Amino acid sequence: MTTNRSRVLMWQAVIAAGLLFIAAGLTYSADAPPDAWKAPARAAKKQNPVPANADTTAAGKKIFASSCLACHGATGKGDGPAANALTPKPRDLSVPAIQNQTDGSMFWKITTGKAPMPAFEKLIAENDRWNVINYVRTLAPGGKK
Ligand code: HEC
Repeated sequence: MTTNRSRVLMWQAVIAAGLLFIAAGLTYSADAPPDAWKAPARAAKKQNPVPANADTTAAGKKIFASSCLACHGATGKGDGPAANALTPKPRDLSVPAIQNQTDGSMFWKITTGKAPMPAFEKLIAENDRWNVINYVRTLAPGGKK
């Protein structure tokens, strides 16, 4: 009965290897969720000094069209004309994972960037980075346009 016994052992080894593979996959996805880009706590607490109103969101819309739309798309869904060529893909800015972030957190991310998204620190004036955040808030479902 040695052959049967070694067959059983072989299958046990195959199953164990399979389980290890699955466990490794689960650990990997737990370590690297797609929304792992986190602003430092201090930066996330920064208050938006620019009140959201018709004027500031209109100013933000212009900035968005010239600096963000190519990647994030006209309605912020992450489907701009340049999106296909990018890894990772631009985020959908209308979803809760983004909209639940503080203005300070978004400001830090726009300022700092993360490849392929550029750092806008020297590209967009500080005031306009806050304006664009006021506009991004209008992209949430039910947000005021
Ligand atoms: C060259 C393409 C590109 C441009 C231009 C761009 N982005 Fe992005 N953006 C990305 C990509 C790619 C990501 C996803 C990065 C990641 O998760 O690693 C992203 C992510 C984000 C996020 C989500 C961060 C998070 O919490 O995961 C915000 C908010 C954002 N962009 C806002 C903007 C704004 C506002 C502008 C314009 C001022 C802009 N982006 C311009 C490519 C771009």
